[in-house]
Amino acid sequence: METIRVGIIGAGGIAQYGHLPAFRNTPGVEVVAIADINEKKLAHVAEKFGIPRRFTDYREMLEQADIDAVSICTPNYLHREMSINSLNAGKHVLCEKPVAVTGEDAKAIIAAAEASGKVFMGAFCQRFSGASQILKKFIQDGKFGDIYYVKGGYIRRRGIPGLGGWFTTKSLSGGGCMLDIGVHALDRMYWLMGAPEPVAVSGAVYQAFKDNAVDGGWPPLDTRIGDVFAGINDVEDMASGYVQFANGATLVLEASWAGNCEPNFYMQLFGTKAGAMEDSRGLKIFGEEAGSLLDIEPQVDTKINTYEAEIAHFVDCIREGKKPLTTPQEIINVAKIIEAVYRSAEQNGQQIKISDL
Ligand SMILES: NC(=O)c1ccc[n+]([C@@H]2O[C@H](COP(=O)([O-])OP(=O)(O)OC[C@H]3O[C@@H](n4cnc5c(N)ncnc54)[C@H](O)[C@@H]3O)[C@@H](O)[C@H]2O)c1
Repeated sequence: METIRVGIIGAGGIAQYGHLPAFRNTPGVEVVAIADINEKKLAHVAEKFGIPRRFTDYREMLEQADIDAVSICTPNYLHREMSINSLNAGKHVLCEKPVAVTGEDAKAIIAAAEASGKVFMGAFCQRFSGASQILKKFIQDGKFGDIYYVKGGYIRRRGIPGLGGWFTTKSLSGGGCMLDIGVHALDRMYWLMGAPEPVAVSGAVYQAFKDNAVDGGWPPLDTRIGDVFAGINDVEDMASGYVQFANGATLVLEASWAGNCEPNFYMQLFGTKAGAMEDSRGLKIFGEEAGSLLDIEPQVDTKINTYEAEIAHFVDCIREGKKPLTTPQEIINVAKIIEAVYRSAEQNGQQIKISDL
């Protein structure tokens, strides 16, 4: 079986702590090239991970390196251009979350993916957690009945990433906590619900910590070699959204980088036959059997490395021709919902129709 050769675009935090170690631990795949505009970091990372070819222009890597696939690990505003150019160059693509800043960007990426016939996968690692996988199986087995209400979020107390760098600069990130970590919570809940058609969204954003912002430590300090911090912080540190679907279901979403709150990554699902609550304390399923209310506490494998599971799935899709877990419709609708939260917030919480995007 031939080795799949990979090129990484962006040598920062997620490349060094997520993708590179995960590719190294995945059989039948090798990272043979890496691209980053930051020469100092590029040299350091190529050396540390023993990557033979390095490029300061990713387009040269696409042309010159002998690679089958790329991992896109760059600031969000670059995902559209880099995904499309990589697909057009005939490479399979794993693109970090948020795959796209707007619904329009997501549609353009998916159109390029479909025209290329290559694998395109969104790097939504949270779908691979033990709890997510258990819940998906219960739901697919019909144990929850119809899911009609879901709420969840990703809440940090003091966790602004890269303060003053691209993460907090709207023109480079596309948005703050909602786009950065709210997208993990939304993507996972939307997938578990079975991806119903979103119809309308309202939302609110806050920047309560603008004058009191502290750096939360991501990207890890040892990965920040030569990074530029221009000092801009023009994105929200807290956001919420309310989503209505064509099948009558609704979803409530929260995201916080900074707040006087209890940190959590959580969700609660309401189904006609059973429901569930999952958070940092574990997973509980609330059912009913033989006339009794029944709480089930599945044994969750908490040792799964979600980056490794995600990358093993990506490699499997390339090798076996499988469909990636992230479907085109899910990628587009997740991007549209978040775009609509921001649009609604700009219009004082007015409801935004997804059909108007
Ligand atoms: N899945 C997860 O849990 C997770 C966690 C963290 C970050 N991410 C995502 O990964 C992406 C990168 O985040 P990060 O934390 O690694 O950021 P980072 O700032 O540490 O790394 C980004 C890298 O991209 C490089 N870069 C910028 N412009 C470039 C260009 N034109 N060509 C090549 N390289 C370029 C930068 O020099 C930097 O080294 C973001 O989209 C982020 O949302 C995902």
